[in-house]
Amino acid sequence: MLFKNKINCVIVGLGKMGLVYYNVARKLNLNLVGVCDLNDSRKKNLKKRDQKFFTKSFDKVLRNKIDLLIISSTADYHAKYAKKAILQGVKNILVEKPVVTSLKDGYELIRLQKKYKTRICVNHNEFLKTHVNTIKKFIKLKKYIGKITSIVFTGGNMGYSMNGVHVFDLIQILTRSKISKVLNFFDLKKTKNPRGRMFNDFSGRLIGETKNKINFFIDISHNQGHGRNIKILFEYGIIDYDYLIEKLSYSIRKKKFINLPKTRYSTPGESGSFKLKSNTIEKVTLLHLKNFLTNKSYVNLKSGFENVKILIAASINKNIKLTNLNRIKSKKKFPWA
Ligand SMILES: NC(=O)c1ccc[n+]([C@@H]2O[C@H](COP(=O)([O-])OP(=O)(O)OC[C@H]3O[C@@H](n4cnc5c(N)ncnc54)[C@H](O)[C@@H]3O)[C@@H](O)[C@H]2O)c1
Repeated sequence: MLFKNKINCVIVGLGKMGLVYYNVARKLNLNLVGVCDLNDSRKKNLKKRDQKFFTKSFDKVLRNKIDLLIISSTADYHAKYAKKAILQGVKNILVEKPVVTSLKDGYELIRLQKKYKTRICVNHNEFLKTHVNTIKKFIKLKKYIGKITSIVFTGGNMGYSMNGVHVFDLIQILTRSKISKVLNFFDLKKTKNPRGRMFNDFSGRLIGETKNKINFFIDISHNQGHGRNIKILFEYGIIDYDYLIEKLSYSIRKKKFINLPKTRYSTPGESGSFKLKSNTIEKVTLLHLKNFLTNKSYVNLKSGFENVKILIAASINKNIKLTNLNRIKSKKKFPWA
């Protein structure tokens, strides 16, 4: 057991996610001892009996005896607050994603975490979502579909740091590998972030590869405003999940034709679809926090930081220019049939 007594908990940042944690804390019977937000008006979102715990000052809220610190402010303060808390002796910290906004902060936080033996969980909760686990089970059930060859994710302008990170998680879960290379075709125009003028995000297309050589393509462009869909391509079939209508469809080559070459891609197959609901953010956040508190499977600082590295790698490479058909020069004769 990690905790013998009631767990003293502090929440920093009482916006949309902070309120999720406030509900989760009640459901997990945590002992709320402090709530901090720079914006005074957030206080009214607490129940009357909890309003006495509210402060605008992080230093003040840190004076409590804290077993669990939840940092759900915007990302600009995640690293700063986590570092300060580690130095003050807080031993369990849950930080919202993205855990840091620079490589320097990520390495520094890892150094401090090791030095002070602090447990840090980053709320990447994709692995706990029902639809993800159902897709995994379905793939196992239809083993003859073969190995994953590539993944295509399409959707509206949801932002890479806001929601693209969840797609990175999903790709890594499905491929059982880590994303190792990325190349962006981002939109030059930045996407506004609803959390304030000082924040912005990338939209556009991203191509990448996992360590086990599975390719992926993400298209979440600024001019697209409806949909969220993942298509998983296998050696002998395709699985397609539409998040909005919560439906999984599949098409798989019939078992008896599996030995035919890949060029026979339209041999008879089996196909179908079924409804598949996902969970609320509160449900998966509760499961994740519970796992963290009971030392079961959770996303740690190292993994959360790996996810940030993908974002940074994608953000720094230059947009590759597309080839203009009017400017091509080639003397090559091609062996096409
Ligand atoms: N894991 C997920 O699925 C998930 C989902 C949504 C949001 N998030 C992440 O959670 C974080 C919060 O998102 P949100 O939607 O709640 O945003 P929000 O804008 O609704 O809330 C952020 C709150 O933090 C407060 N704040 C900002 N700076 C602060 C500081 N220095 N000290 C104290 N309070 C401060 C703001 O006043 C605001 O109340 C973001 O990093 C976001 O990316 C994660």
